[in-house]
Amino acid sequence: MKPLIVANWKMNPSTIAEAKKLFNSVKKGSKKVKNVEVIICPPFPYISELKYQKSKLKLGGQNCFWQKTGPFTGEVSPSMLKDLGCQYVILGHSERRTNFFETDEIINKKIKAALLAKLNIIFCIGETREEREKEETKDILKSQIKKGLQEISKKEIGKITIAYEPVWAIGTGNPCDPEEVQKMALLIRKIISEMYSPLLAKNLGVIYGGSVNSQNLSSFLRESKVNGFVLGGAFLDPKEFIKIIRIISSH
Ligand code: PGA
Repeated sequence: MKPLIVANWKMNPSTIAEAKKLFNSVKKGSKKVKNVEVIICPPFPYISELKYQKSKLKLGGQNCFWQKTGPFTGEVSPSMLKDLGCQYVILGHSERRTNFFETDEIINKKIKAALLAKLNIIFCIGETREEREKEETKDILKSQIKKGLQEISKKEIGKITIAYEPVWAIGTGNPCDPEEVQKMALLIRKIISEMYSPLLAKNLGVIYGGSVNSQNLSSFLRESKVNGFVLGGAFLDPKEFIKIIRIISSH
């Protein structure tokens, strides 16, 4: 499996002109880079425009609803994302769980709908600072995985990558310790092995997100055997983002 680099643009940048500029500088800077899969997840209104900036960069949505069409004001369906050229969708991000009250049950519905639309899923899980302090991390991760993947078959699990994203590490400049990330990645595989099979757990993509940058990346590559990273803040500077892509591809 090629390492995945998921660029979660969140609600940035503020204009389509800036979005195109950012996309094109990443496209240019990553032209000769091999052995990595770069997935750009822009805000919805920019997706169709970026689709026409022909490149090997893949596109993903940051969220989707679970219905195909209908009276759901403000929502975007998985098939609409697919139609716009997206191959991926991020689901369960902590900013959606916190700000938009998304429960594990809602995330499960979205995962099922996205699978029906043949999208690959970046399924985010992670504990809050308070949960970590109370030593509840393992239980939280287990419960988020079990509930989020309820009724997802063995056949479908291959379309899902699990992103371990401790809430307290996102956008704080305070990343999780790489050794701890490795422990959590092993735990995630153990849970998947119990739910599905050891082989599916072995083949599962497990990635990490939370304040990754070009300075701390090497320690993650050395000490935590994850299959890639979700980057938020680091994408804002295309030079930094390209540096990260190059470090990962030459690892
Ligand atoms: P960050 O965001 O890199 O800014 O911490 C990561 C994420 O939101 O997935």
